[in-house]
Amino acid sequence: MNPSLHFAALAAWPLLLFAQPAAEWTPERPWPQTSAWAGSRSCAGCHADLYRRQEVSNHARSLRPPAEIAEFHQGLPYSHHDRSSGAALTLEPGAVLKTEKDGDRQSLVLEWAFGSGKKGITPLGRAQSGGAMVESRLSWYSNGGFGVTTGAGQREPRSFAESLGRTLTEKEAQDCFGCHTTGYTPGQPAPARDEMGIRCERCHGPGAEHVRLMGSAGNPPAAAGQRRILHPGRLDAASQVSMCGVCHGRTPADTDVALLARIERDPNTVRFPSQRLVLSRCYNESTEGLACSRCHDPHANVSTVAADNDRACLSCHSKPRRTCPTATRNCASCHMPSEQVMLHSRFTDHYIRVTARGRGTKGRR
Ligand code: HEC
Ligand code: HEC
Ligand code: HEC
Ligand code: HEC
Ligand code: HEC
Ligand code: HEC
Ligand code: HEC
Repeated sequence: MNPSLHFAALAAWPLLLFAQPAAEWTPERPWPQTSAWAGSRSCAGCHADLYRRQEVSNHARSLRPPAEIAEFHQGLPYSHHDRSSGAALTLEPGAVLKTEKDGDRQSLVLEWAFGSGKKGITPLGRAQSGGAMVESRLSWYSNGGFGVTTGAGQREPRSFAESLGRTLTEKEAQDCFGCHTTGYTPGQPAPARDEMGIRCERCHGPGAEHVRLMGSAGNPPAAAGQRRILHPGRLDAASQVSMCGVCHGRTPADTDVALLARIERDPNTVRFPSQRLVLSRCYNESTEGLACSRCHDPHANVSTVAADNDRACLSCHSKPRRTCPTATRNCASCHMPSEQVMLHSRFTDHYIRVTARGRGTKGRR
């Protein structure tokens, strides 16, 4: 790729965001591919602290080989009688899921563990080599150990083979990898170990040009914006929210009033911060905008210390600006309550507002 063309494309990235139809933002390619991938290891030398933090984050751990995961193996073997199919399922050490009924046997070699384990881990595997990917009917949850995969309880297996799990279409499997890896290309071999999970170039764009430039002796361009890598901290709030929203819930256009109203009404959208945050007055009425990175270090896990989370709120809600008549700390507990969205998962409602819970009355406002 012509380097100057590459640079022009990167520099224009925020503009492209507005000019391009949302369809360009596929899960695998949130930006137009304009440079080669360098691999996350290549960032470690120059950004060592940041690298060490990111490497152990849940982003980085959201796809792994099952063999690496201690909590996944501790409970094995695990047996489960599947009431809907009548099959006896056993998850064996070595990550093999076996099913048996009336002497018939089948097995699934689990190759991929999706999810860091903070909430849950769902493995994917194949019943035959080269065959379709199957989402295991058994998953592991941090709040209860092994159990039937979320959603699978409502899907009756239509055949004995289906008691192992849900066979994914090629597109579905590609989407799983698209959101849980870095630089994944459909149809190509499995991602390298260091690119499993959400790593540097997933958010910063392919970085070979940056590595070459910054590593070259003599004349590294000092000026910010000329480093041939995307700095999402310099995106305006709307662009950053959409960038994270490629995975965390596609942001509706601010003119799509009907969709915004539907998102506001549907409690299941609490799973998607990028769809909920944009409903907030904090987001819509603050002059400086409210990007995800105002409250989150994108290289680390969320802080569960209330004081850390309060800091972002207080950076805007201190005198002379509007302050809370009710409390001085633990802001999110009332204004961004955690909601049970699925059996195994609670999510923080990013629609910041005065909620019924915050007022101490029952139900949602
Ligand atoms: C040879 C050293 C070197 C390597 C390798 C390197 N960087 Fe950098 N990077 C720098 C320097 C120096 C800066 C400018 C100072 C700073 O922000 O730390 C920088 C800045 C950045 C910035 C901010 C850009 C801006 O416009 O301010 C990002 C983002 C970044 N690097 C990401 C990466 C990623 C991702 C990788 C791996 C693909 C990587 N870097 C590899 C040296 C390097
Ligand atoms: C559009 C992007 C996207 C796609 C496609 C996607 N995921 Fe995820 N996945 C996420 C995000 C974001 C999270 C964290 C927040 C959440 O759970 O909603 C997540 C979380 C998870 C978790 C952690 C447990 C949990 O429920 O929070 C598992 C397991 C998981 N995904 C498996 C899968 C599998 C298997 C597929 C394919 C069938 C898949 N994902 C497809 C974005 C995606
Ligand atoms: C989930 C998305 C995401 C991932 C993954 C990610 N970053 Fe970042 N990075 C960001 C965002 C967003 C910012 C801007 C943060 C801000 O402005 O506070 C940023 C900022 C930076 C900066 C500039 C820091 C500064 O103070 O100016 C560097 C350098 C950087 N990232 C390097 C890396 C490296 C190296 C990795 C992999 C180890 C990585 N990033 C992984 C989203 C990400
Ligand atoms: C970037 C600045 C900014 C940040 C950060 C911010 N807000 Fe706001 N918030 C605003 C603005 C602007 C308004 C509109 C009303 C006003 O001017 O005070 C607002 C309004 C509110 C309202 C009233 C909502 C309504 O519907 O009437 C609440 C409650 C609130 N914020 C709580 C919070 C909490 C809790 C946090 C942290 C989790 C937070 N805000 C972070 C700027 C911000
Ligand atoms: C490529 C898809 C993808 C992108 C892009 C992405 N995320 Fe995520 N994010 C995920 C997945 C998947 C998880 C769940 C990880 C796990 O398995 O626990 C997650 C988890 C998180 C978490 C929870 C971490 C914890 O403590 O468990 C935060 C916070 C987060 N993302 C913020 C962001 C922000 C901010 C951005 C944009 C700068 C961003 N993400 C971009 C996919 C993505
Ligand atoms: C115990 C629950 C609770 C906590 C904790 C809490 N609030 Fe509130 N907050 C409320 C309620 C209830 C209201 C509405 C008060 C009213 O309308 O009389 C409110 C109102 C607000 C408003 C709107 C004020 C206005 O003039 O319209 C802002 C801004 C706000 N809170 C910010 C915060 C911030 C920042 C924190 C943390 C420092 C915080 N809140 C902690 C319950 C809470
Ligand atoms: C005003 C502050 C604020 C902003 C802006 C913000 N978050 Fe959060 N986020 C929080 C708080 C507070 C939590 C809950 C932390 C805890 O667990 O105590 C949270 C939790 C999360 C989680 C963990 C899962 C969950 O639902 O609890 C994810 C993922 C996440 N945020 C993604 C995002 C993304 C993506 C954006 C941008 C669209 C964003 N956040 C913007 C404050 C914020």
